Amino acid sequence: MRIDILTLFPQMFQSPLSTGIFKRAVDRNLLEIKVTNIRDHTHDKHHTVDDYPYGGGAGMVLKPEPVFETLEAITADMSREQGAVPVPIILLTPLGRLFSQEIALELSQYSRLVLICGHYEGVDERLREHLVTDEISIGDYVLSGGELAAMVVTEAVIRLVPGVLGSEASAIDDSHATGILEYPQYTRPPEYRGWTVPEVLLSGNHARIARWHREQSIVRTLKRRPELLDKVNLTAEDRQLIDRLRQA
Ligand code: 6GU
Repeated sequence: MRIDILTLFPQMFQSPLSTGIFKRAVDRNLLEIKVTNIRDHTHDKHHTVDDYPYGGGAGMVLKPEPVFETLEAITADMSREQGAVPVPIILLTPLGRLFSQEIALELSQYSRLVLICGHYEGVDERLREHLVTDEISIGDYVLSGGELAAMVVTEAVIRLVPGVLGSEASAIDDSHATGILEYPQYTRPPEYRGWTVPEVLLSGNHARIARWHREQSIVRTLKRRPELLDKVNLTAEDRQLIDRLRQA
């Protein structure tokens, strides 16, 4: 997979991209990430990237030309399409669709993505009208720019690319991958300061343990994120447990 990130703050990506899962994926040639400074694609002496909004109002607006030209420079080596599959051109903005594991899975199917980090109070609308094909927000709160959001999206997507994670199983069991929250986990020692690990986990009875995991996931989800249970496939046994817990 190749991910191009267009930003006014390329330095923000240095440390994250040279650490952990990003580095592993790049080192294994599973991922190529290129961060491009939008400011490098300006032509005036002051490298102007933003300007006052027509009609007035607070703040500055990201100009269209540097963003169009940055994208044209990085996609010069290809048509906008690889084969028949168009490359998503994604603007990170609080106005976008709310990011989720489902969207991460959707994006992980592409061999190439372009992420544009919106900045300041907004971007020229013509970027939306004529360049961008998708808009993503990472939540209902305010960030000054799309940079951290681009990192969140990138990490969530690349860990779904086969081979990026050490063990594929760890992606499958994760909270939100299953649609419900992860069960409580314990490791050694079996007793710490008098606090013990649930007996079932030490029993060696795999069927019992699997049942306990499922129950605990459901108990947790019901307590913390009950709305998630409306969207997942539940077994008859799951439903009985939920009914029992709701009555208690
Ligand atoms: Cl993608 N950008 C900005 N600026 N703020 C956000 C966001 C994105 N997602 C949540 N808040």
